[in-house]
Formats: sequence, structure tokens, C-alpha cells
Amino acid sequence: MLPLIFAAPLIGAASVAASERRQLVTRGDGFIRSPVNALPGPAPRLRVRQNEIEVDNQLSGTRYVVDVEIGTPGQPVSLILDTGSPDTWVNPDCDNVNQVADCESHPRYDYTKSQSANVTRAGDVLVYGIGNATIRYVRETVTIGSATIENQIIGVATESHSIPLGILGMSPNPSGRNDYPYILDTMVDQGLIKSRAFSLDLRGVDNPNGALIFGGIDTGKYIGELAKLPILDRRETPRTADRYYVTMTGVGLTLPDGSVVQSETLEVPVFLDSGSTFSYLPPAIYEAFASAFNDAEYDPRTGFYYLPCDVADVDGSVDFYFGEKAIRVSLNDFIWQVQGYCILGVLPDNEEPILGDTFLRAAYVVFDQDNRNLHIAQAANCGTNLVAIGSGVDAVPSSTGECTELPTPTATGGSLDFTTSRPPASTFTGSGPTGVVIGPGPVASKVSGSTEIPGPTQTGSGSSSEAGGGARAGSAALVALAVVNMLLVWVV
Ligand SMILES: *[C@@H]1O[C@H](CO)[C@@H](O)[C@H](O)[C@H]1NC(C)=O
Ligand SMILES: *[C@@H]1O[C@H](CO)[C@@H](O)[C@H](O)[C@H]1NC(C)=O
Repeated sequence: MLPLIFAAPLIGAASVAASERRQLVTRGDGFIRSPVNALPGPAPRLRVRQNEIEVDNQLSGTRYVVDVEIGTPGQPVSLILDTGSPDTWVNPDCDNVNQVADCESHPRYDYTKSQSANVTRAGDVLVYGIGNATIRYVRETVTIGSATIENQIIGVATESHSIPLGILGMSPNPSGRNDYPYILDTMVDQGLIKSRAFSLDLRGVDNPNGALIFGGIDTGKYIGELAKLPILDRRETPRTADRYYVTMTGVGLTLPDGSVVQSETLEVPVFLDSGSTFSYLPPAIYEAFASAFNDAEYDPRTGFYYLPCDVADVDGSVDFYFGEKAIRVSLNDFIWQVQGYCILGVLPDNEEPILGDTFLRAAYVVFDQDNRNLHIAQAANCGTNLVAIGSGVDAVPSSTGECTELPTPTATGGSLDFTTSRPPASTFTGSGPTGVVIGPGPVASKVSGSTEIPGPTQTGSGSSSEAGGGARAGSAALVALAVVNMLLVWVV
């Protein structure tokens, strides 16, 4: 048993970082950098107005969004950055979301006002962990930063449910076969970048301005070497889905005195999903993490472990191992702070483990689709030095990060068994935030070839070429079951 526990000190509560949006786009030789903004949603209503009945339109969660422009002239839209799905689409149906006002506050794309829109006759239904979107494919000009992608196939929703923003899809097709050229594919085809690779720097809660770099890395944003981890073959993954799956070999904790607690060697396939607010790990790991916090209270309704908010200020981290590489997530980043509640950033899932935003905030990750590797290092911020990713097997440069090493833990802080089930020590009896909708995708990836999902809408002949492979009738993969782990959304 672990005697040493993360206990809250008697100091002020941590505040939720305010988001500050900043436009900064850089384009260099072979890479395109675009900011990623943490969008917290509107502030909760003022106290005095709490008695109002109409309270269904408040949102306070965290979404990571990228601003792009679509059409000619360019129309701005904000899209959720999603490494858990491949399709890019716009214009969610705001009548079918809980957060109507938030949804409506974002600009929409209107193809009748674009000179470059080429509306196809092909469509599709995309089914996510929570919600779905019925889209029509349009060929359009998409501008990300200073990079202009021509003739990109994107979806324009004709109907959608439970999704408050459009999506920028960055994953391969879970089926293992792309239905049509996705954004990353088109960028390579049009010579904007040299290989299908991008790096992601989400940043911690105190510094919400991260970056997405197509075709490049920023050595000023990580510490030490990037560890190269093979992306698991689809057949080796829990649900035979082609995703950004790698093998996690251990977990642990770094305690406030700098000593470490480490699990036995594990072999857990996990996939990295920026569209998932929480991480989802096997129950024994989730329970072991929770047991490390003195006053963790389990909420049987949601699976959340509530913690005293002061814990977020304690030195220490939740650690993830990939072979020799450790990624240490500070408690401040791992604990999800929302509406004055502090919730442990992990939920149980044995079927399809996910490392979501509560992990990605601490990691610098290069996603190399061409060579099927992820490259991963501890994120930091010590300036900017953009290096292009070339092509070929060694396309991702093995550049060492310029940021200073973290102190190496020397002592061992006792043992904690990460494989045994343990019941919660105490139960949460408060009300918690109300109207919680959890939208992680583990169940979604099961959806496949369901008869309830219509195929592509093809209303005329000759439209097959319009949406590339997207219009290949009869293909099961075509139902593009973009399985996403949509973010968790809180409704006050
Ligand atoms: C989309 O989601 C809504 C709400 O859950 C549901 O009623 C509808 O049948 C779904 N549509 C498809 C095509 O899955
Ligand atoms: C729309 O796309 C089709 C297929 O690529 C092409 O043949 C057609 O010329 C395009 N139309 C316009 C107006 O660009």
C-alpha cells in the first residue's frame, strides 16, 4: 500500500486558466504552423441568474480548436482538432445540441458565397462517440494559416446531433482504407508538405496556445529526444481500428518529494486522441491513480473521482511510460478543473484505452502516418525552432529538444500495484456539475455497417468522381464511421 499520498495543502484553490486567443501562423520551407486554441466556452451564468429556467445553453468544457478559412473569399470557421477521426466537416446543427448559444456563436460556412465551391452529389453519415453528422461533400479551397489547399473534399452538414462545432479530422480511416484524400493527404499531393506527418503541442492548462504543425516539428517545444513508437497495426488493436495506437509499457506517479512510484511492466495499447477530454485506462490503473489521492471521492453515477482543488497545486505528476520514455503530467494538467470542481483526468475503460487531452497537454507528439510511427517527448516551452519533416523512412528529424531536462527522480517512493482492483475509499455526495454529457468514443468504434446508417446519397450518375472514393457505392468503409471521441461537454 502506498502510504505517501497526494494531499491538498492549505493554500488557495487553483484557478482555471483563462483562454486567450492569439493568431500566429507561420509557414516555412515545407511546414505549416497553425495555432491551436483551447476554447473554454462561455463563462457560467452569474449567480443571480441561476433561477432562470433557460439554462441549457451554457458550456464550460475544454475543446482544442483550429481556425481555418474555407472558400473564396475565405470564410473563417473554428474546427475541433481531432486525432481520432479522419473527416473534416463544418456547420453543425445548432438546434440539436445542448449548447445552442455557444454553437451559434461560431461563424458558419455558406457555399453560395464562395467562388470556389464545387458541391458534389455525394454525401455520408459520420457516427461519433457522441453524436453524428449527415454531410454532403463539397470540393473547396481550405486555407490553414498561409497554406492554401485546393479542391479539398470537406463535408457540409445537412443535419447533425450533439456536436457543437465542426471537426478537423487528422487520423487515418479506422477501416484501414481512406475513402478519399483527407486534408493531410491533399497537403502532400499539392506539395505543401513532404510527408503525411504533423506535430501537436497542446500545452498545459495555464498556457492554452498550442500549435499544430503540418510537415514540421518545433524543437523549442520539448525536452530531450523524441522516442519513436510504432503505430500498432490495425489487427493488433482492441477493435481492429486503424488509429494512433501505441503500446504503453507502464504508469506511475512522481511524488512531491521527487521520488517515483512505478508500475510493473505493462503492455497496454492506447490511442492518442485530441478529441477526448479525458483519458480512459484499464480499471485497475484508474483505481490505483485514484487511491493515490487522500481525499478522492468516487461518484458512482459518472465514474468521476472528485478531488480537493488544492491538489492541483501540489508538486508531482502522473506518469506514463513508453519503453524508456516517461511523460510526466503535472497534477495541474491532469486534474480537470471545471466550474469549481476538480476531477481526476482518467476514467475506466478496458476495451479501447485512450490517452486524451489530460495526457496530451504534457506531451509533444509527432504523428507520422507515412512511416506509421509516433514520436513523443515531454512538452515544454523554450522558444521556437521549426524544422521541416522531409520524406522517406527517416523523415522525422531526430532533433533533440532544446528545453532543459526535468530533474531525474532518484529515489523510489514505495510501491503501488497497478493491476489490482481496489474499491473507492469514499463516495462523493455532492451534486457535482449538472447535465453532464460524457462523449468518449470507445463504444463508437463498434458501430460498423449498421443497417440503420444510410450509405452515401447518390442522386445522379457520374457523381462517383465528384467525391473521389467517397462515392464508391456499396463500400462498407464508405460509411466512414469516423469514430471520434468527442469531447466531454458540461452543461450548467
Ligand atoms: C443521429 O443521432 C440522433 C440522436 O441521437 C439519432 O436520433 C439519429 O438516428 C442518428 N442518426 C444516424 C444516422 O445515426
Ligand atoms: C467540379 O468538380 C468536377 C469534378 O472534379 C469537375 O469536373 C468540375 O469541372 C468542377 N466544377 C467547377 C465549377 O469547378
